[in-house]
Amino acid sequence: MKKTVLVSGGAGFIGSHVTVELVQAGYDVVIADNMSNCDDTNYRGVCSILGRELPFIKMDFCDGDAVNELFAKYRIDAVIHFAAFKAVGESVDEPLKYYRNNLLSFLNVLEAARSQGGCNVLFSSSATVYGEPEELPVTEKSPRQPATSPYGDTKQMCEDFLRDCVRAYPGVKGIALRYFNPIGAHPSALIGELPRGVPNNLVPFITQTAIGRRECLSIFGNDYPTEDGTCKRDYIDIVDLAKAHVCAVTRMVEGRMKEDYEIFNVGTGRPVSVLELVNAFEKVNGLKLNYKIAPRRPGDVVAIWADPSLANEELGWKAERSVEETLAAAWAWEKHLAGK
Ligand code: UFG
Repeated sequence: MKKTVLVSGGAGFIGSHVTVELVQAGYDVVIADNMSNCDDTNYRGVCSILGRELPFIKMDFCDGDAVNELFAKYRIDAVIHFAAFKAVGESVDEPLKYYRNNLLSFLNVLEAARSQGGCNVLFSSSATVYGEPEELPVTEKSPRQPATSPYGDTKQMCEDFLRDCVRAYPGVKGIALRYFNPIGAHPSALIGELPRGVPNNLVPFITQTAIGRRECLSIFGNDYPTEDGTCKRDYIDIVDLAKAHVCAVTRMVEGRMKEDYEIFNVGTGRPVSVLELVNAFEKVNGLKLNYKIAPRRPGDVVAIWADPSLANEELGWKAERSVEETLAAAWAWEKHLAGK
């Protein structure tokens, strides 16, 4: 029998890609989103890719009654919780907004999982929990560092909520996926990243500069202790990242977990500097990008990349797309948005 996965935040960047991969892998998906940080572009894109409509519920996960009703209405085998605020800088200015939304929504998911006698819960975590790592690459056993923003705090706290609920409530099982830097777009160019206002993240800023919506990319710092002086990250293709969720959900619903709470890094294991990324974007798309070197951005870590071997071995998942393919997809998406 088909299993049903509830995807909170399913109209967003990661949620929409995960929905496509889940449906293509044979799952029924229920999307829930309050649309506070997106319009229906990605939802419509998901329906076009799949050739049909999916159940969509506009709701806020901070409303506990609504979450309970949702669980009562659908027989949910697994829930993937993406619905959260994600702007690091804004979380510093408005910590209460972040604590209320990101923590309360996840508590409501956990309450619902407990009251229905158990559920498989996948939490969308982040490499931000590792802070500035002492050793590279980071494994799941690398220590978490004190968070440098309320956003990062909420990721750490939600991981702990999940761990403790799994321990306390029979039938509740959990996986936290720690994403490195998700970038790119679906090869159809029908879904992708839709930042509101000025993008905080590197790749949307690059594509918006290339299309002419921004004048110039600022590279934040070229005096870091790396080969070319710019920061290094582990950029993971969004479709590869989405596939990791399918592997994790399948592991849970098929009862193949080794522990009732598991953590996996989702990255490529390949560090790429900001300059290398910019150069790769120019080369693969055959264009020149207007950029300048600017001062360091406060709070940036120098370098972080994953040791993804646990996910490779246990989930049977591996990042497949090259950074060039991913940057070509990101550019195709930006052009699609611009109607070009
Ligand atoms: N960068 C620039 N110019 C820009 C934007 C970014 O040079 O306009 C640089 C940053 O300084 C950094 C790299 O590009 O070196 C990547 O920056 P992103 O903002 O794209 O990604 P981060 O690694 O800062 O952010 C990621 C996740 C966040 C998470 C954060 C925690 O996107 O969700 O890691 O460190 F909170």
